[in-house]
Amino acid sequence: MKVFGISGSPRNQGTAFAVNYALKYLEDKGVEVRYFSVRGKKINFCIHCDYCIKKKEGCIHKDDMEEVYKNFEWADGIIIGTPVYQGNVSGQLKVLLDRLRALVARNPKVLKNKIGMCLAVGGDRNGGHEIALRTIHDFYLINEMIPVSGGSFGANLGATFWSKDEGKRGVENDEEGLKTLRKTLKRFYELLKER
Ligand SMILES: Cc1cc2nc3c(=O)[nH]c(=O)nc-3n(C[C@H](O)[C@H](O)[C@H](O)COP(=O)(O)O)c2cc1C
Repeated sequence: MKVFGISGSPRNQGTAFAVNYALKYLEDKGVEVRYFSVRGKKINFCIHCDYCIKKKEGCIHKDDMEEVYKNFEWADGIIIGTPVYQGNVSGQLKVLLDRLRALVARNPKVLKNKIGMCLAVGGDRNGGHEIALRTIHDFYLINEMIPVSGGSFGANLGATFWSKDEGKRGVENDEEGLKTLRKTLKRFYELLKER
């Protein structure tokens, strides 16, 4: 079982902590894990040149997405974490998701049946977390992946954290948020084993 975790935050704070918490949880169960953060990375915008569609050789840009493409192919399961920005995913994460079009253009079934879960970290209690999670779930659905959450009574669409704008400390101290993450991870691991 192989899992690739992504932090969509430009900081090494709450989102990075939560994604690494998830990876450690899985690693302790014998899962092979890899981690990528958008922090400090060069990830160009998709310019809709359709090079990827016409050539089927990947993206025209050669930048830090190469590592993301490789790891998306490698993994059985994907964990995407995002800070909530303006009620949705971070701009950095949105660009990363757009750029994955090139991977799917080369091989339309490349992501089929991979398991996907997500987590969102916001400064407010209800700052748009669920909309951010839905954006990531939509990406999973569009690309034929299997989106999972922790289910009803706590983690309806996945894991949500209220950082109170205190970064890593805020997430570490959010007991309710950690519960939503563990609930989501339990289901994610269950499906991963069945794959
Ligand atoms: C540009 C920007 C927009 C933000 N918009 C929201 C928002 O809409 N809702 C919210 O709850 N928090 C918002 N925040 C706060 C962050 O989500 C919060 O501080 C979070 O913990 C940041 O994640 P990080 O600790 O991984 O950097 C915003 C922060 C920034 C920088």
